Amino acid sequence: MINTQNIEIEKTKHSKLSQTDFTNLEFGAVYSDHMFVMDYKDKQWGGLRIVPFQNISMSPATSVLHYGQTIFEGLKAYRADNGDILLFRPLDHHKRLNKSAKRLCMPELDESAYLEGITELIKLDRAWIPNQPGCSLYLRPFMYASDEFIGVKPSSTYKFIVFTSPVAGYYKGTVKVIIETEYVRAAEGGTGFTKSGGNYAASLLPAKLAAEKGYQQIMWTDSKEHKYFEESGTMNLMFIIGDTLVTPPLSTSILAGITRDSILTLAKDWGVKVEERRVSVDEVVKAYENGTLKDAFGTGTAATITQISTINYKGTDLVLPGEETRELSNKLNKALNDIKLGKAEDKFGWIYRIK
Ligand code: COI
Repeated sequence: MINTQNIEIEKTKHSKLSQTDFTNLEFGAVYSDHMFVMDYKDKQWGGLRIVPFQNISMSPATSVLHYGQTIFEGLKAYRADNGDILLFRPLDHHKRLNKSAKRLCMPELDESAYLEGITELIKLDRAWIPNQPGCSLYLRPFMYASDEFIGVKPSSTYKFIVFTSPVAGYYKGTVKVIIETEYVRAAEGGTGFTKSGGNYAASLLPAKLAAEKGYQQIMWTDSKEHKYFEESGTMNLMFIIGDTLVTPPLSTSILAGITRDSILTLAKDWGVKVEERRVSVDEVVKAYENGTLKDAFGTGTAATITQISTINYKGTDLVLPGEETRELSNKLNKALNDIKLGKAEDKFGWIYRIK
């Protein structure tokens, strides 16, 4: 157990707050004033500190630059009407970070150091939490291998950093997506369930090719047959077929989305029929053709709920019903937002409140 009572704090002398336009936020373009840092060496975490947001200097031989031993999380903070700071499911993000760490052969993080670090950081930068509808303070915890060594082996030293960024939603409105039948994001037994840098690097070329055709995202399919839906890289996938909410089951190739879990929990609580099972491309195309595909959307921390307007499959566009007809996903979106902002009962204990 680490003693977290003594987080050293060095405040910035040059706050960027007054130069930041909170009415025109994008995702991930502006960073708040401070960051939380700690180091792993001699098999333990230490050196907990908050410092001004700054560049990192490292040797060209630093392990992460060569072999990609790096993981991250993304979580959001909101401000309640009474001024309290509300973090959404931070302990679940911590658990997932440790699952990623285990798979990438990295040290796990002590829960109290993680929580205390982000609590102190947000308290210090609380003025950076936007009030604008749909906006929040996005926290980006990440860890990387910091050994100066280019032999292939797990690093013996690591850095853990958390910085924050006031953001709007990841996507502006609905998205057009394309079903991928050539490239693969992740295979079973691999690292697809982790938030590791390499998963995202592998998606960039297919995503670029999709963007050239006018689609903002990819619907990944399984690595063996390209027959079953996986996830969407920045989001998990959900479909409403008839009266049932259907989503692919978790596996070693799919990220266990915390928004995914929140949506499924809410839907089940409301008595909606929910099925976590393999969903084939054929099933969705058939449902589209016979009019039972009512909705398709992605869920994610950055994306929240993003409705899919068009699905392209082998060159043909399936144009889905208009956003206003999508009762369930609209209702889920609102309910989740109300919980995050402290406007609805936190029935499932998702909110971590900082006074
Ligand atoms: C998130 O939803 O927090 C993500 O990590 C997705 C993306 C911005 C990489």
